Amino acid sequence: MSDKIAVQCKNINKSFTIAKNVETIALRGVDLEVYKGEFFMLVGPSGCGKTTLISIIAGVLQPDNGRCIVNDFEYQKKSAHEILKFRAKNIGFIFQSFNLIDSLTVGQNVAIPLILNGMKQGQALEKAKEILEEVELSEKFTSPPNRLSGGQQQRVAIARALIHNPSLLVCDEPTSALDHMTGAKILDIMKRINKKFKSTFIIVTHDNRIFDYADRIAYMNDGHIERVSRNHED
Ligand SMILES: Nc1ncnc2c1ncn2[C@@H]1O[C@H](COP(=O)(O)OP(=O)(O)OP(=O)(O)O)[C@@H](O)[C@H]1O
Ligand SMILES: [Mg+2]
Repeated sequence: MSDKIAVQCKNINKSFTIAKNVETIALRGVDLEVYKGEFFMLVGPSGCGKTTLISIIAGVLQPDNGRCIVNDFEYQKKSAHEILKFRAKNIGFIFQSFNLIDSLTVGQNVAIPLILNGMKQGQALEKAKEILEEVELSEKFTSPPNRLSGGQQQRVAIARALIHNPSLLVCDEPTSALDHMTGAKILDIMKRINKKFKSTFIIVTHDNRIFDYADRIAYMNDGHIERVSRNHED
């Protein structure tokens, strides 16, 4: 695999069994390449397979067949334990619903990936403070997440996904719950982080107001990618 490629999917198929002898096909032969450092968007109608595809790319879900390789790590050739370790170190996942834990402070939520990677709590909280500055939320360090606005919670989720310096960030609808101004601010922050840390971003979105931020956009329909377009000539 070329060292310029961060993610390579080859002929990925995925079905779900929804009832006895009833299957729904989520992905039909997906081929995709995402380059290192790219700000890549994945768009398409509801149910076309976007979340399924990024879950496979993030190693959360296994395809029925086909290959998915992230930074030379080929999921299908690895054990569940190896995948878990790879994910914890290399991938940040920003969920649509934020998935923050209200019984912990903002700082503790953000520190979780480092603690999972074996760092001592005190040191992990120091790092959490630094990354919260990056998303302009250091003043909320000791608050519970449920006291924060939607846009602030989304920034906490971004900080948590970034804290362990993952090379790949996968974001499912990062702006869908937000008004336009807040959504644009979130995208500005993600783009700045993308440039500063040279991390690769894959962003699923319905929100055509943010398409402009993308380097390239893949259009999905009915379980496959119809076309990929470059947004800006550079
Ligand atoms: N865990 C599951 N069990 C059964 N069917 C599923 C499961 N996850 C997804 N599907 C089905 O697979 C197809 C693709 O779903 P997916 O969630 O990937 O779509 P999506 O493009 O993310 O849609 P949306 O824009 O609404 O989030 C749909 O038909 C969905 O019903
Ligand atoms: Mg989805």
